[in-house]
Amino acid sequence: MLVIALAASPRKNGNSEKLLDEVIEGLRSGGAEVKKHRVDKLDIKPCTGCGECEKLGRCVIEDMFQELYDQLIKCDGVVFASPLYFMNVPAGGKALLDRCQVFWIAKHRLGLDLFGERRRMGLLVSCAANEFGPGGAPLFRGIEDTMTYVFDALGLEKMDSLLFTCADSKDSIAGNLDALRLAREKGFYMASGMSV
Ligand SMILES: Cc1cc2nc3c(=O)[nH]c(=O)nc-3n(C[C@H](O)[C@H](O)[C@H](O)COP(=O)(O)O)c2cc1C
Repeated sequence: MLVIALAASPRKNGNSEKLLDEVIEGLRSGGAEVKKHRVDKLDIKPCTGCGECEKLGRCVIEDMFQELYDQLIKCDGVVFASPLYFMNVPAGGKALLDRCQVFWIAKHRLGLDLFGERRRMGLLVSCAANEFGPGGAPLFRGIEDTMTYVFDALGLEKMDSLLFTCADSKDSIAGNLDALRLAREKGFYMASGMSV
């Protein structure tokens, strides 16, 4: 079983990546193979809306998304870890999500079933605020809606998210042993859930 772990924060070893590393430990102890990518380190250009994917079923932009595309097709699960940036994902992560339009087109316009059975996803988010977003909106509604939509295009079933508030300084999560334990358990659960 292969899981693709995506760290979307531009801040190396920050809160969301710490959570991701714990999930990876849990996944590995549950028997999964994990490939981790720091999204910012990948050369992934923004979607240009050229529409070629509607004709070809593939994205024509030649960059590192092509390799990730193949991994995303053959994996059994994806974990996406992100800080909350203006209620959503940072720019590098958003570029990656927009490039996943090729999966949305395959599913909804071309009627292709690229994945066969449903796969698993995990979402990890850390943010600075403590309770509500602007106007009292739930803090994580934006990012959860976005990720649910993208993961659906990827044939991924939504699992519980791990969402952490009050984590602004870089080491907030590193000092939160309960959060780290929870993340590790989540990884283990995800791996064992997939193997049954
Ligand atoms: C550009 C930017 C936008 C942010 N927007 C939000 C926000 O909308 N809500 C919030 O609670 N925190 C916001 N934050 C704080 C981060 O979400 C928080 O520090 C997070 O834990 C960082 O995770 P990381 O260490 O993995 O990068 C923002 C931080 C930055 C730099």
